[in-house]
Amino acid sequence: MSDLELNDPNYSALCEHVRETGYLESTAALLEWDQQTKMPALASDYRSEQITHVAGLIHQRKIDPRVGEWLEHLTDSPLAADPTSDSGATIRILKREYEKRIKLPATLVMELARAASVGQTQWVEARRENDFKGLAPQLKKIFELKKSEAEAIGYAEVPYDALLDEYEPGARTSEVAGILEALRQELVPLVAQIKGSSYRAPVDILNRNFPIDQQRLLGRTASEAIGFDYRKGRLDVTHHPFCTEMGPKDCRITTRYDETFFSGSLFGTLHEAGHGIYEQGLRSEYYSLPPGKYCSLGIHESQSRLWENLVGRRLSFWQYFYPQAQGLFQEALGDVSLGEFYRAINHVEPSLIRVEADEATYNLHIIIRFELEQAIINGELDTDDLPDAWNEKYMRYLGIQAPDDANGVLQDVHWSAGLVGYFPTYSLGNLYASQIFDAANAQLGDLDTMFQAGDFVPLKNWLNEKVHHVGQCLSGPQLGVQVTGIELSHEALMCHLREKLIPIYGL
Ligand code: CO
Repeated sequence: MSDLELNDPNYSALCEHVRETGYLESTAALLEWDQQTKMPALASDYRSEQITHVAGLIHQRKIDPRVGEWLEHLTDSPLAADPTSDSGATIRILKREYEKRIKLPATLVMELARAASVGQTQWVEARRENDFKGLAPQLKKIFELKKSEAEAIGYAEVPYDALLDEYEPGARTSEVAGILEALRQELVPLVAQIKGSSYRAPVDILNRNFPIDQQRLLGRTASEAIGFDYRKGRLDVTHHPFCTEMGPKDCRITTRYDETFFSGSLFGTLHEAGHGIYEQGLRSEYYSLPPGKYCSLGIHESQSRLWENLVGRRLSFWQYFYPQAQGLFQEALGDVSLGEFYRAINHVEPSLIRVEADEATYNLHIIIRFELEQAIINGELDTDDLPDAWNEKYMRYLGIQAPDDANGVLQDVHWSAGLVGYFPTYSLGNLYASQIFDAANAQLGDLDTMFQAGDFVPLKNWLNEKVHHVGQCLSGPQLGVQVTGIELSHEALMCHLREKLIPIYGL
């Protein structure tokens, strides 16, 4: 900290308070990581009590009136003068979070937490039983509560703005909608062209036998090569892969293995390692303070998608790694050329399930959810009519029809868990990833030549400096402009998809 920061008693008291809250937050993260990875089944009831209790302590600390008083004193301080400086961002972000928290009535917060908890339990049942009607009343309740939340927080143009702001601070619904609409208009015809092409990638080779020990070895080698630091991180196995951190030098990523599917664990590991490289790249001296925290979910996802798709599905990446993969999986890949393998891992085909979708169609799955949740929040669609609206959009954008709601509107837990406004961050991540990759390629020289030699360090260091070190000093849109020199648009992603897919499908 600077002398100015150290000499302001309000600022140091505020930062000390937030760092101490960080001890509780990272402890909660450890409890949750353990719950997903190692915890014995019968321990779950007590664990829920532990997590709820810690969450209560965290909430109490965040609405502590002293936080309001410290912030009040700091508003006109020279420390707040530049909102993008470390101290300025700290004051700005903490003020925003504090005001948001105290605006929300405690009863609404509790009702939402309960509705989301019940919603998740009912969703498991509804999905298993293919019973949308069973879930519908709870879903209606959750969306009503989210509307109340939006009203309580306030918004610039539409209620959805308030919900989007939770995950993508500084982003406006109208701007995001404009970008995703432009993306949809170009993506739908490209996907239709691919669907109509006579070429079919040899995807079957990815379903041969891939022994798990070898998959583990390749995942570890590749994630380490791109820059995930195992001295400050771990890779474990879970049913739903994720990345979490529980300290400035403690990042945990997870994956799952399927002996008869190559892509799942390898690309999943690269994805989570991308998230992990971001967490490990944050400035540790600011741990738990805004300058040491990730910028937004969209920027977080850009880091995972960049390594998973822009790097991991690139020909130059495999020019380096394919000989190793062939050595590890001689039986499965011995007779497969690099070109065939490359086309297989980049295969595009409309499918029903978002989490299994390819790089191109994935964004259409997101756009559908984004359009539907906006329509509900803005009062244009009733939750009871979701299945029909869902099916109509899948037919229109992807040309496919789910055989039932379990493979349709019931496939994601998000809405049942109260996560509304979250989906667009996945596509924002893809859009930012393409623009950031292009900027890196322009500034660092030919990345492909580096990748062919197995050298990923320059790109990782560049991301550390340009993206990770910024923390929350800039919003996502500001960071995007600073790093890439241009406003966010659909163009870089479309360009990247066309450059790759048009030759593969001979369009
Ligand atoms: Co992700």
